[in-house]
Amino acid sequence: MTKLICVIGATGNQGGSVARRFAQDPDYKVRGITRNPSSEAAQALVSEGIDVVAADLDDPPSLAAAFEGANLIFSVTNYWEPFFRPDCRQKAAEQGISCRRYAYDVEYRQGKNIADAAATVVDSLVENGFLVSTLIHAGKASRGKFKELYHFDAKADIFPEYVEEKYPKLAKKMSCVHTGYFMTSYRILPECYFAKQADGSFQTRFATVPNEPTFHLDVNTDTGPFVYAVAQMPPGKTYMACGTICSWTDFSATWSRVTGVPASYKQVTREEMMEAVPDRMLAEETTDMFEYTSELGYAGGAEVLLAEDLRKAGIECPMTSLEDWMKKHDWSDVLNK
Ligand SMILES: NC(=O)c1ccc[n+]([C@@H]2O[C@H](COP(=O)([O-])OP(=O)(O)OC[C@H]3O[C@@H](n4cnc5c(N)ncnc54)[C@H](OP(=O)(O)O)[C@@H]3O)[C@@H](O)[C@H]2O)c1
Repeated sequence: MTKLICVIGATGNQGGSVARRFAQDPDYKVRGITRNPSSEAAQALVSEGIDVVAADLDDPPSLAAAFEGANLIFSVTNYWEPFFRPDCRQKAAEQGISCRRYAYDVEYRQGKNIADAAATVVDSLVENGFLVSTLIHAGKASRGKFKELYHFDAKADIFPEYVEEKYPKLAKKMSCVHTGYFMTSYRILPECYFAKQADGSFQTRFATVPNEPTFHLDVNTDTGPFVYAVAQMPPGKTYMACGTICSWTDFSATWSRVTGVPASYKQVTREEMMEAVPDRMLAEETTDMFEYTSELGYAGGAEVLLAEDLRKAGIECPMTSLEDWMKKHDWSDVLNK
């Protein structure tokens, strides 16, 4: 019998990839969830044969209705929209809190709404039917040293923490999928990823030690196949979606090999990294992340299953390497700056 998967964030990077992968399998019916079914991204899904319904993560009844009859749910929450939106920054100022904290509150509340709504359909979910995109709890992994890595903790405080505490039955049907650094993320921190030098070469500069291996994900191509593979596993496991694990030194060397342009990696101080990012709040949130990953690793020491583990279990899990992604990517915006 056909299974219904409800996909949050279907108009976005992670959810779009998930919706499209499941839609390729005639055993699944895909229901994409969006605030605005008439947007270009939503209409693109419709033209590909994917159902689209309206719901808002801030409107619990709309979410419960969107999940009706679900056999699987893919969940993703977006820290960065409330972080960047000018009206949210205004509200944060009115509340006397930073936009970092404000975005934590929004992401936490929306994650909680997802979990509450998913709990209302727990009986119709398959054994491994609650597939959630999340990250490690930096505060706990660092034993309180990193207290303000909000875009990690907002996710982890709900997935798995809140779900396990409040909904044990739902927790039994959950898989946690952590996502590596999106390969496209250089656009958020252009001056840290690719600082152009006077001699025409480029330098990648983060507050991370040069040799710490980290996870890199082609989010638009690979989230779907990864989550589709995870759905074939038993529930209760934690994963890291990525196509390549390498240090920032290797990242830079790969980029140089692909583009033919000299490049190197330099570990910079907190102050130097902060200076390179014009938006002060973004500088603080991301510098914390690069310092945290330097000390504890991106997964904070958690045991995470990788694509190769899914393959060892006999499940197909094609992933894009950083080098292959870099080869097909148009670098003119970086090279011509
Ligand atoms: N950048 C990185 O390297 C990296 C690495 C790991 C994890 N992450 C995490 O990835 C997350 C973002 O994922 P993404 O890139 O897939 O997001 P995205 O492409 O920006 O898409 C966000 C999606 O969420 C939906 N959405 C947002 N607010 C909603 C609401 N109130 N109600 C219903 N739907 C809502 C949007 O739908 P509509 O607009 O159509 O309503 C859209 O489909 C962030 O939390 C970030 O921390 C990023």
